[in-house]
Amino acid sequence: MDIEKFQNLHLQVPSPIEEIFDPLWTEQNIRILVKRDDLIHPIISGNKWRKLKEYIHLAQETPEYSLLSFGGAYSNHLYSLAYTGYMVGLHTIGIIRGEELNITSNPYLHQMSQWGMNLIFISRSSYKNKEIPKEISHQKYILIPEGGYSDVGLKGMKTLADELNYDIHADYLITAIGTGTTGLGLSQYISTKIIGILTLNNLDEIHEHMHEHSIKPENIELNSAYIFDKYAKNHEILTDFCIEFEQKHQIKIELIYTGRMFYGLYDLLKKKYFESGSTLVALHTGGIKLTD
Ligand SMILES: Cc1ncc(COP(=O)(O)O)c(C=O)c1O
Repeated sequence: MDIEKFQNLHLQVPSPIEEIFDPLWTEQNIRILVKRDDLIHPIISGNKWRKLKEYIHLAQETPEYSLLSFGGAYSNHLYSLAYTGYMVGLHTIGIIRGEELNITSNPYLHQMSQWGMNLIFISRSSYKNKEIPKEISHQKYILIPEGGYSDVGLKGMKTLADELNYDIHADYLITAIGTGTTGLGLSQYISTKIIGILTLNNLDEIHEHMHEHSIKPENIELNSAYIFDKYAKNHEILTDFCIEFEQKHQIKIELIYTGRMFYGLYDLLKKKYFESGSTLVALHTGGIKLTD
């Protein structure tokens, strides 16, 4: 199936925009709009679709190539890739961290295999070096880096930028930063000031990416005050915040990305960071597992 047809039939693109209210910002005369990319599709939700779309285009132009990527045994990214490949008729290969695993190790792996993804399990050390297993080294494939950071991934943000430029004239856009693909990609296509909330200790790496792509610091402000630490799952403050947020706004968020981003947003609002009269867009980049 052609990718545009698939998008039209199965995905909610353009994704909806929803305003949320709280005295914290209404009293400052500030509007907060949430761009609900999490509602694009239950499996290919959030920035997963934005990151994958250009790769699917490429693969459809060269059908003799498979789409290959890496991930852990519960990778949302590989799960999305396997599903999309199945739906649009492309061959996919998933290299999984952990040689001790197999397709029956969890229901996600089993489902990915059912969708036709060729799953290859490699040792943690080979995974660390992103080694391509010998058994497929002769095959033709397009490699999607883990996390999707690449020129192709950045380009995938153009359609999201078009939706934002068309629908809203915001003063700020706030998004979570992992590899930076989403935030940096967007900064190439919108003039709205972007605030990137870092979720990992990788500020230097993101600065390098900005340099590589000639992205000026005035286009995107990076904030590393809300990383907590690697073990965000143990953070009561963050966990409580996510639960309260969902109760208040009826929008699910998770601890790693959108939880930190909205936590940062609330904190910046408490510190009166934004000028009165501003309109902000908070990008919901998805990340909610079907089981959550
Ligand atoms: C749900 C979610 N939000 C945000 C991000 C961070 O996006 P990026 O890696 O493009 O910076 C990710 C990373 O994959 C993610 O899964």
